[in-house]
Amino acid sequence: MLDQLQRLPDDPILGLVAQAAADHNPQKVDLTIGIYMDENGLCPVFDAVQRAQQQLVAAESTKAYLPAVGDAAFNQGIQQLLFGEDSALLADGRVSSIQTPGGCGAVRIGAEILQAAKPGNRVWISDPTWPVHIPLVGSVGLQFSKYRYYDPATHGVNFEAMVEDLKGVARGEIVLLHGCCHNPSGADLTLAQWSVIADMAESQGFIPFIDIAYQGMGDGLEEDAAGLRLLAQRLPEMVIAASCSKNLGLYRERTGAAVFLCQHADNAQALVSQAKVAARKVYSMPPAHGALLAGKVLSTPELTALWHEELAGVRARINGLRGALSETLGAATNRDFSFIQREKGMFSFLGLSPEQCQRLRAEHSVYLLDSSRINVAGVNGANIDNLATAVAQVCKEG
Ligand SMILES: Cc1ncc(COP(=O)(O)O)c(C=O)c1O
Repeated sequence: MLDQLQRLPDDPILGLVAQAAADHNPQKVDLTIGIYMDENGLCPVFDAVQRAQQQLVAAESTKAYLPAVGDAAFNQGIQQLLFGEDSALLADGRVSSIQTPGGCGAVRIGAEILQAAKPGNRVWISDPTWPVHIPLVGSVGLQFSKYRYYDPATHGVNFEAMVEDLKGVARGEIVLLHGCCHNPSGADLTLAQWSVIADMAESQGFIPFIDIAYQGMGDGLEEDAAGLRLLAQRLPEMVIAASCSKNLGLYRERTGAAVFLCQHADNAQALVSQAKVAARKVYSMPPAHGALLAGKVLSTPELTALWHEELAGVRARINGLRGALSETLGAATNRDFSFIQREKGMFSFLGLSPEQCQRLRAEHSVYLLDSSRINVAGVNGANIDNLATAVAQVCKEG
């Protein structure tokens, strides 16, 4: 029976990652995978996380399961990170959460809850969005519609078109929004635009589902949550998927949380009970290590302070690279790449055609997706000139 199953193609992004890894050209520039890399091309462990890990390992006396809802310090830390330490919503018990295996687990548990509340409901996703949203959300039985979001002509959000499309969202439907550092475009909403979305959600009665996988990688931990907090101030209900993969560098430890904002404290508790049942169906118990580390960093003032400092360094490097790329690519090609400096987080589209991207890979060992999405953090002092020369070459050839 099992022999009927055909071999499936690799995930397009992971396929390119493997292709890049197999290329031994010393001039190679790999901008494919969405992990933060330092100046040496390494994905570092934060010192704050290392210290938490030393403490954890020294004190650990059991590998028994965590509670199904996850680690208490972690859940509290994530809620405070999202809503602010002094949030009245937290004090009123209107927020609850469950620890999940990464942000992907959080998106999936969030989708399970939305499906339980209204089976077959419609989720509106940005065009484009992170492709993994489709299997994560679609596999529970929810339907999709797209709203226009990124305008390749302006390299920014086409907010007029977004609003036009969201006027079609019916009461009770879901709108999936990227909390900050939009993946793949890097084009984020302004606070004034978040406010328009809040007006629409209020008057049309739709429910935001916010995926926030890059809090702290754009303008700052507080700044990057400002849109989410604005919606939370004004709306009765919201589902949030949070990830610690990037901002705490815990990728392989699979650390995230599905977070629920509810009208009343008892709804918030009801949703956690639903989320525990949903988790039981797919993976049962959450992984411990990453959440215990994150919980320790978020609840120990010295470690929190160290992490804030390190994260500020990551942000400064990304934003510095954005400036350097805008200038270097602009000078090499005589084109305007200033949009890279305006965008946020790890990703931007270079605005090249799929054929140009294929030539960059085949002829220059410069690896980026066919959509021309690059991971800005993959750029460094040693490869930026190769990148600019290669981009200039393919631009010249048309
Ligand atoms: C938009 C978005 N959401 C969620 C995630 C979740 O990632 P993870 O499951 O590794 O925490 C990612 C990671 O790339 C992402 O880009």
